[in-house]
Amino acid sequence: MTRNIMSSSLIFKLALVLVLGLVSSLLASGFDSENVDRKIYIVYMGNKPQDTASTPSHHMRMLREVTGSNFAPESLLHSYKRSFNGFVVKLTEEEAHRISAKEGVVSVFPSGKKHLHTTRSWDFLGFTKDVPRVNQVESDIVVGVLDSGIWPENPSFSDVGYGPIPAKWKGTCQTSANFTCNKKIIGARAYRSDNVFPTADIPSPRDSNGHGTHTASTVAGGLVSQASLYGLALGTARGGVPSARIAVYKICWSDGCSDADILAAFDDAIADGVDIISLSVGGSEARYYFNDSIAIGAFHSMKHGILTSNSAGNDGPDYFTIRNFSPWSLSVAASTTDRKLVSRVEIGNTNVYQGYTINTFDPLGKQYPLIYAGDAPNIDGGFTGSISRFCSEGSVDANLVSGKILLCDSIVAPSAFVYFSEAVGVVMNDDGVKYPSNSYPLPSSYLQTVDGDAIKTYMASNGVPTATIFKSDAVNDSYAPFVVSFSSRGPNPETLDILKPDLTAPGAEILAAWSPIGPVSSGVIDSRTTMYNIISGTSMSCPHATAAAVYVKTFHPTWSPAAIKSALMTTATPLKPDINVEAEFAYGAGQINPLKAINPGLVYDANESDYVKFLCGQGYTSAMVQSLSNDNTLCNSANIGRVWDLNYPSFALSSTPSQSINQFFTRTLTSVDSNASTYTSTILGAPQGLTITVNPKVLSFSGMGEKNTFTLTIQGSIDPTSIVSASLVWSDSSHDVRSPITIYVVS
Ligand SMILES: *[C@@H]1O[C@H](CO)[C@@H](O)[C@H](O)[C@H]1NC(C)=O
Ligand SMILES: *[C@@H]1O[C@H](CO)[C@@H](O)[C@H](O)[C@H]1NC(C)=O
Ligand SMILES: *[C@@H]1O[C@H](CO)[C@@H](O)[C@H](O)[C@H]1NC(C)=O
Ligand SMILES: *[C@@H]1O[C@H](CO)[C@@H](O)[C@H](O)[C@H]1NC(C)=O
Ligand SMILES: *[C@@H]1O[C@H](CO)[C@@H](O)[C@H](O)[C@H]1NC(C)=O
Repeated sequence: MTRNIMSSSLIFKLALVLVLGLVSSLLASGFDSENVDRKIYIVYMGNKPQDTASTPSHHMRMLREVTGSNFAPESLLHSYKRSFNGFVVKLTEEEAHRISAKEGVVSVFPSGKKHLHTTRSWDFLGFTKDVPRVNQVESDIVVGVLDSGIWPENPSFSDVGYGPIPAKWKGTCQTSANFTCNKKIIGARAYRSDNVFPTADIPSPRDSNGHGTHTASTVAGGLVSQASLYGLALGTARGGVPSARIAVYKICWSDGCSDADILAAFDDAIADGVDIISLSVGGSEARYYFNDSIAIGAFHSMKHGILTSNSAGNDGPDYFTIRNFSPWSLSVAASTTDRKLVSRVEIGNTNVYQGYTINTFDPLGKQYPLIYAGDAPNIDGGFTGSISRFCSEGSVDANLVSGKILLCDSIVAPSAFVYFSEAVGVVMNDDGVKYPSNSYPLPSSYLQTVDGDAIKTYMASNGVPTATIFKSDAVNDSYAPFVVSFSSRGPNPETLDILKPDLTAPGAEILAAWSPIGPVSSGVIDSRTTMYNIISGTSMSCPHATAAAVYVKTFHPTWSPAAIKSALMTTATPLKPDINVEAEFAYGAGQINPLKAINPGLVYDANESDYVKFLCGQGYTSAMVQSLSNDNTLCNSANIGRVWDLNYPSFALSSTPSQSINQFFTRTLTSVDSNASTYTSTILGAPQGLTITVNPKVLSFSGMGEKNTFTLTIQGSIDPTSIVSASLVWSDSSHDVRSPITIYVVS
């Protein structure tokens, strides 16, 4: 399995990454001379043992017992021991099976690869640079960013004006090569458990991709005026919490992000003392919670009071495509802002068509000959026009298109531009992916077929067709916000009745800091460099939510991860189901509103015991649960939690086509207001055929910390093809505490 950083502009790299990943795993598997097929496995053993020092030797002992005469000490690649227990080891499938039966082992799974799934976005959220801040607290917050590293010299990470490093910080800075930290980037580590560094990568926390620099600066970059991508999106680039410190954990390389390294980074980040973890990475399949490095890492960070903020994934818009969905983490979808980048094409008859692409190239300035790819097949390569019209790799005759604008009947990956790099520009004609825009190595525009076909008609009736392409313009998108199509959708594949994603944040065309050695587009012929780049993905929305969570934490330093998540969810702005038909499975509770989130009135809190109770109810065994929790928790009758009673800030209920619905949920609200208050419940949008009742309907709180429990009951029946949405709102005179309610049928 391959895992990627979740930037959709990097999706085009995926094919290449897959090939590289395959090559490197073939190389890596040649580990022993006997040619036994060993893979890298993670043996996860839950909680950190009391006696930390003995852990690696204990792991070695287990390994010896399982491998017997084949015992090879060098096959133990890494021991997790700072925040939880486990190790990384090369095993045969049979050995992996045997080790999974050992006492204390929670799960054993191959270490696969995950991938990497200005700034108008903050202003669009109403979160201006003048919002009230608790600066002293904010500058003591350390944000752990697990990603592709960082470019520390980028102006967004200047430490001018920052005070001393927070005293609590226990991390280190791996200053290899010329990499150094400062008072802004206070920690940096790089992980490569197989010790085989791809040649394209720098073996230090330095970011050669750009992605990690982008996400880190979106959370906590300082204010940099006049930032832009070649003049596009010009403005002040800033992170959501510009005073906070950054700790970098480089887990992603040009061949992906391995599970073993992700867990090693969690092990360190928790022990180093980060306050929050931001992770814009995910797998390409859904995994059971304790077979997933991110869900495991997030579980241990939750135990230590650290929220993990995750990208939902870039595999939408189909249902069940969400990649990070553990109940103890925050899962963030990606939505648009009102700034949309378009690029216009003008043809010889002066008609102008508006397409999507981030085109940083200066206007071509004059009309160039236009050639249809279907009329330029690479005949020597054995291609005909019926193939070359799509501009697929090698199908176009490079000589024929030289000096011309090429019209392709398909969207083309930037990497494929290498086959027609002599063209002046490229117009792509496709209805596949509408938005958001991508960067390409040549002047280009991506038109919908209604426009592309009009150009073809013009070409058919004109002996010497011509066209020109303009640099991108920013236009106001009045539909914003909506969830973009690539953003992964729920339902939660592992627990149908826990709603995922949790919320959405801006993830389309985000300007943020970049690595000067990371290309502007992923095209190999693209030699442009930039310190700020515009990219899209749930990778970009996740750090927005991370920053919002930090902002809440600066006002409420003692709040649990669940309380922070509740505050973000119950104050989020709901989106419109008429634009996103997947409704809450696209946007969860809605778009983050950081300013409202600091004053939610009430929170749905939860702690480790609550999640353990939930796990017992999900069929986990006492032995497993004991490994995960600090006490001797047993999954006995008193400790088996129903999924509907996990104190989650949203409600999801799955049903089957013929089933009538009758289910109750139990929730507990905690007042986070020092004043006494009385809240009344309202059900908004109660759908036809369903009755939703709340008992009691009114709750009184005498002040801070007081708790009250209520039940919500859903009865009736629904149309088996629809997703039914409603919401529960608890209101006093000054707060509306809103939770989405989603009822759906799984066939
Ligand atoms: C976890 O992964 C292992 C190894 O791939 C597999 O055998 C096991 O069935 C998985 N567990 C669950 C519950 O999916
Ligand atoms: C640091 O080293 C990297 C890789 O060797 C190089 O690309 C980069 O230019 C150097 N950066 C600085 C600021 O010296
Ligand atoms: C877009 O239009 C809306 C509504 O007219 C306005 O509130 C918003 O500020 C505009 N956005 C930009 C980027 O100009
Ligand atoms: C979790 O919260 C409950 C009360 O809601 C409390 O009884 C329990 O001790 C807490 N558990 C932990 C591990 O803090
Ligand atoms: C509590 O009530 C007082 C008086 O009504 C008001 O001034 C204050 O803002 C309230 N505090 C909070 C936290 O809402």
